[in-house]
Amino acid sequence: MYARRRLLISQTCLVVLTVLAGQSPPSGFQDPKSAAVDYVNPLIGNGGDTPNGSGGMIPSTAPPFAMTRWVAQTRQNYVSMTPYNYTDTSIHGFQGTHQPAIWMGESAQVIVVPGAGTVRSVFEERGMSFSHDNEVLTPSYYKAELSAIEGGHITSEQSATSRVGHLRFTFTNTTAPYVLLEATRASIMGSDDTSNVTYPLGTVAIDPHAREIAGSNPERQDFIIGPNPAFNFRGFFVARFDTPFAHWGTAANGTLHAGATSGSGALLGGWAAFAEGTRVVDVRVGVSFISVEQARKNLDTEIPDGSRLEQTARATRAAWAEKLDRVKVEGASEEQLETFYTGVFHSLQYPYEQSEDGKYYSGYDDAVHEGDSYTGYSIWDTYRAIWTWQILLAPERIPGMVRSMLQDYTEGGWLPMWKNIVETNIMVGTHADSLITEAVLKNITGFDVDLAYEAVHKDATVPPVDDSTISYFDREENVGYEVRAGLSTMYDTKGWVADDIHSESGSRTLDYAYDDYAVSVLARYLNKTADAAFFLNRSMVAPFTIFNTDTGFMEARNASGAWAGPDAGWTEGDKWAYSFDVVHAVDELIEARGGKAKFVQSLDEHFDGGHNDQTNEPSHHIPYLYALAGAASKGQARIREIASANYNNTVDGLSGNEDCGQMSAWFLFGALGFYPVNPVSGDYVVGTPFYDAITIDLPGAKTPLRIVSTGAPTNPYVKSVTVDGESLQTPVITHAQIAQGGKIVFEMSAEPQAWASETLA
Ligand SMILES: *[C@@H]1O[C@H](CO)[C@@H](O)[C@H](O)[C@H]1NC(C)=O
Ligand SMILES: *[C@@H]1O[C@H](CO)[C@@H](O)[C@H](O)[C@H]1NC(C)=O
Ligand SMILES: *[C@@H]1O[C@H](CO)[C@@H](O)[C@H](O)[C@H]1NC(C)=O
Ligand SMILES: *[C@@H]1O[C@H](CO)[C@@H](O)[C@H](O)[C@H]1NC(C)=O
Ligand SMILES: *[C@@H]1O[C@H](CO)[C@@H](O)[C@H](O)[C@H]1NC(C)=O
Ligand SMILES: *[C@@H]1O[C@H](CO)[C@@H](O)[C@H](O)[C@H]1NC(C)=O
Ligand SMILES: *[C@@H]1O[C@H](CO)[C@@H](O)[C@H](O)[C@H]1NC(C)=O
Ligand SMILES: *[C@@H]1O[C@H](CO)[C@@H](O)[C@H](O)[C@H]1NC(C)=O
Ligand SMILES: *[C@@H]1O[C@H](CO)[C@@H](O)[C@H](O)[C@H]1NC(C)=O
Ligand SMILES: *[C@@H]1O[C@H](CO)[C@@H](O)[C@H](O)[C@H]1NC(C)=O
Repeated sequence: MYARRRLLISQTCLVVLTVLAGQSPPSGFQDPKSAAVDYVNPLIGNGGDTPNGSGGMIPSTAPPFAMTRWVAQTRQNYVSMTPYNYTDTSIHGFQGTHQPAIWMGESAQVIVVPGAGTVRSVFEERGMSFSHDNEVLTPSYYKAELSAIEGGHITSEQSATSRVGHLRFTFTNTTAPYVLLEATRASIMGSDDTSNVTYPLGTVAIDPHAREIAGSNPERQDFIIGPNPAFNFRGFFVARFDTPFAHWGTAANGTLHAGATSGSGALLGGWAAFAEGTRVVDVRVGVSFISVEQARKNLDTEIPDGSRLEQTARATRAAWAEKLDRVKVEGASEEQLETFYTGVFHSLQYPYEQSEDGKYYSGYDDAVHEGDSYTGYSIWDTYRAIWTWQILLAPERIPGMVRSMLQDYTEGGWLPMWKNIVETNIMVGTHADSLITEAVLKNITGFDVDLAYEAVHKDATVPPVDDSTISYFDREENVGYEVRAGLSTMYDTKGWVADDIHSESGSRTLDYAYDDYAVSVLARYLNKTADAAFFLNRSMVAPFTIFNTDTGFMEARNASGAWAGPDAGWTEGDKWAYSFDVVHAVDELIEARGGKAKFVQSLDEHFDGGHNDQTNEPSHHIPYLYALAGAASKGQARIREIASANYNNTVDGLSGNEDCGQMSAWFLFGALGFYPVNPVSGDYVVGTPFYDAITIDLPGAKTPLRIVSTGAPTNPYVKSVTVDGESLQTPVITHAQIAQGGKIVFEMSAEPQAWASETLA
């Protein structure tokens, strides 16, 4: 999904990146050995000059699902702007960021700014030039050479654990070395008008004896949207240095207060300067959403005193290696391996940890609770395939992630839609229903299934407040939980969401139908037979209430039943994509659209007419529908075209926003040769594996999952498939078939094949 509001676009210039730009990590930062981690290129998908900031990924260091990610700050970030942009030439600090995606706001960042000479606290005055040639970029270690403003240079290195950033600055030929901690800045409200700012009020406290600078920052750029004010939200930090302070002070709105040990307010920072001749300064920055004390505890727990940067980086590299080394690829080029493993790297970042030390701050009731918590749920995107991927590669995380959603329900009254610390109401549908149902179906335990059913049942039966009078348009301010807006006005009686009452009505209709299906699956699992039948019925009826048989396309309707027009009521897609958007009833959709031959013809028109848009999620499953309509080989050709046109190992190598991993999940499943078209079916639809073989050591499985597709790089068509020696007649592999590992063998061909392709037979 894209941000609704966008900045004007500068002219495009092609940024082509080959292997890791810059240098290899110094020795000491390359252990443990991991070829998979070495293939990760954190610049892929940054977007650079791509129109509309596609990709939107930053080259940050942190372990998987980390609470705080650390990145060189090349510009001020806000909704639609990331803190690091490949086109920039200066670094203004190192930012501990919680911005989960380019179109979402930052929360409670803290910025560490090295310098030499006059202390410069103002963003515009503190930038230091750097070159990509000298950068080292890995998931666990980052390095840049900064040209200090008054001469000399500062070698800046960073790594991080989940809640602690670890930085090291080496001063060469500089005078008066210092490090500033920026607590608060001017916060940009939206993306249309960068002069529209607020001034969050923070605190700093300097303890020269303990060599600490602590503070707090309440910045939450999305605070204006969503139902949860979260008045007490703030981020806390404790920065502890290894070097004695020679002098210190605070900075407020650009004015330095030398010797001050505390301050509060806007545009606030605290600094420590070091004895002349100091060459190396090591600083660890513990971060918390609970308190300064907790930030200090996080620091002491995760990176105790005396830890060297090399040790921190090693532990973080080991955490990535533990995941990435589970996936082995044969027959891919170096460029393809970079694209692939960077996709895996992207797939294990969100949602991110919001709990610390067994406790978490909840913005729903503005209180601290016991338990695990996660935030950064772009569920409208992530229910499609990235959740499925995480169930395979990170199943140990799923119970905590589900418990976190259930806590949100308990504390705020609803499951999350797009949780960025709190609910933001962004996008439509209550797809947590799908996440939970898929986890239950796939035998994930460790959460209260009855509470989960209560929560999804509420989604499906209780409308939002003022359902008949609030449109719930995207990012609407001062409204309650959006959930299934339109549920009570029309959907529950007629089957469609009325376009003259609600925004995005066509998309809502189809999304709610899918969510109903998910609820019916969970009800069936729990032997709630009547509920299962009710929601199944509604899920099967609703989509076809907006199918206009006269045009052959889905079309939104007014409350009166009148058609609202072919372009009305869609979000992040159009009538072309949405007319294929009934993933839980594909057979019925094919029937409605005139049977298999006509359906395949409409798929051809969709692709040949340039209507497929991989940059937005409603298109993601569409090429796999060919196989379900008996034209597998046609789908295989499309999948290969989409993969090569939208994914590569460059700064621009993601054509759309990463969407918390969904863009990459499409590619990863593509490479495996199957995709979860209907996530709560447990089925994967067969496509075309990209490489000669992929082996995944699935956590907890009896044997590895080995997918052999010899010749696939140059032979896109599937001639036959066997699963554990059994020949596959239909293009569907079930989760149960692969959950414990096993072997899938694809016979590949250069020419279209008859397998699962009735129209060719
Ligand atoms: C970028 O955004 C503009 C304005 O919303 C839109 O018209 C244009 O199609 C977008 N470009 C791309 C490549 O998505
Ligand atoms: C990077 O900066 C360029 C130039 O200002 C801008 O066009 C582009 O959208 C930015 N990209 C991202 C991902 O913010
Ligand atoms: C530091 O400055 C001296 C004197 O200008 C110069 O000789 C030396 O090369 C510089 N060192 C570095 C590492 O730049
Ligand atoms: C600033 O942004 C906020 C949030 O989007 C908006 O409500 C307000 O009207 C804007 N103010 C101005 C002066 O544009
Ligand atoms: C910062 O200082 C400038 C110049 O003195 C002043 O105009 C501005 O209001 C101050 N900003 C804040 C947030 O205090
Ligand atoms: C649908 O409702 C809108 C808003 O009330 C109205 O402008 C439009 O004419 C209606 N369309 C039809 C076909 O009735
Ligand atoms: C549902 O009913 C079946 C058959 O009686 C039983 O085996 C199963 O354990 C029940 N499931 C649940 C979740 O109660
Ligand atoms: C679905 O419910 C409708 C009433 O809303 C009923 O007429 C229809 O028979 C039901 N269909 C099935 C398959 O149960
Ligand atoms: C890489 O992919 C992007 C789209 O994701 C595309 O715009 C660009 O041309 C591709 N670059 C290369 C070198 O293939
Ligand atoms: C879940 O566990 C049951 C019982 O062990 C097993 O029969 C079923 O195949 C499993 N389902 C999946 C999707 O792995």
